[in-house]
Amino acid sequence: MIILGIETSCDETAAAVLEQKNNRIQILSNVVASSASLQAKYGGIIPEQAAREQIKSIIPVIEESLRLASLAQGSSIELDVIAVTYGPGLIGSLLVGVETAKTLALIWKKPLIPVNHLIGHFYANWIPPSVVPSERSSRGNLDSIKIATSVASLLPRNDNFEVPAFPCLGLLVSGGHTDLVLFTDHGKYKYLGGTRDDAAGECFDKCARLLGLPYPGGPHISKLAQKGDPKKFKLPIPMKGSKDFDFSYSGLKTAVARIVGSEQVTVDSKTDFAASIENVIVQSLIDKVILALKKYPVKNVMIAGGVAANKKLVDRLQVTVDSLKSNIRLHVPPPRLCTDNGAMIAAAGFFQKPIKNPLSLQTDPNLSL
Ligand code: KG4
Ligand code: ZN
Repeated sequence: MIILGIETSCDETAAAVLEQKNNRIQILSNVVASSASLQAKYGGIIPEQAAREQIKSIIPVIEESLRLASLAQGSSIELDVIAVTYGPGLIGSLLVGVETAKTLALIWKKPLIPVNHLIGHFYANWIPPSVVPSERSSRGNLDSIKIATSVASLLPRNDNFEVPAFPCLGLLVSGGHTDLVLFTDHGKYKYLGGTRDDAAGECFDKCARLLGLPYPGGPHISKLAQKGDPKKFKLPIPMKGSKDFDFSYSGLKTAVARIVGSEQVTVDSKTDFAASIENVIVQSLIDKVILALKKYPVKNVMIAGGVAANKKLVDRLQVTVDSLKSNIRLHVPPPRLCTDNGAMIAAAGFFQKPIKNPLSLQTDPNLSL
């Protein structure tokens, strides 16, 4: 079975072709064009602009994904199904992917699978690390999508790879969402809690902006933090001591703004401040994972979303689950599959059924878990 996955919920235009053989998923191609560097000029996403970039990139990105997949197969690719993100996200961006997918399903006479972007993020954990011809461009237009005829992204083969086993606790940490979910099977899950205001990634981005760092700020804070001392600045750990599974980051953002405003942060102490911000965000996430594991003592934990690319989070979470001494397996997607991509949408598609009438599919910008 071969699936084309299309993802256009925000400022990334992405398409990937995945094959499932003998119960193992394999990436044949994974192409991502991002307009993030364009958004960076304005310090954040302008929805109208993101949608316009989606329109420019969608056809070249899909064409490139099919071309690379054919190269990987040694012959032209024969698709079985198309999977597409239909929400949540920016309405203009979502429409580009959904209408393109509907049109292709009609012309190519292929079934269509609508995928919830949030669920899609979790399915990055079902994709084994492999050697993939993939390419990430910095601007979302035709000229900048580099042709990747050679193997562009070489990942170490991990023969210990195992897909998450159910029941599995899932933590989604992205630019728009911070959610804790208990999965009992494919398509069967219980929402435990989520953020009451800003998402963890949004908090990274807003704090970075206060520090004068470019958008998206998470990776920049994380890089600065490597050289900093997290104890130099006293910041509150969000929701410390709370007994529910919710998160909240607006208070931290205010605390950060107050310290920046009081001019305590000098060029020299920026690294310490970044380390403190990263430290309390990571701690708040770990606190809730521990709380959830106490109530639901599962053997598998998976993380997903852009912030799952944060090394400090991954390392501390690993130490935490190891310290519980109950043989918990932590699943973490490779960093390039944590941020938005088409491969995760195709992977989710393998576990869902197509809809009866592809042309009836509508976008749902406010879709939840
Ligand atoms: O999942 P994603 O690509 O988009 C959404 O669906 O929201 O996540 C993007 C978010 C941004 O807020 C970005 O700052 C954050 O993920 N991010 C990181 C790192 N890499 C990306 N945050 C912290 N550390 C990182 N290394
Ligand atoms: Zn996302």
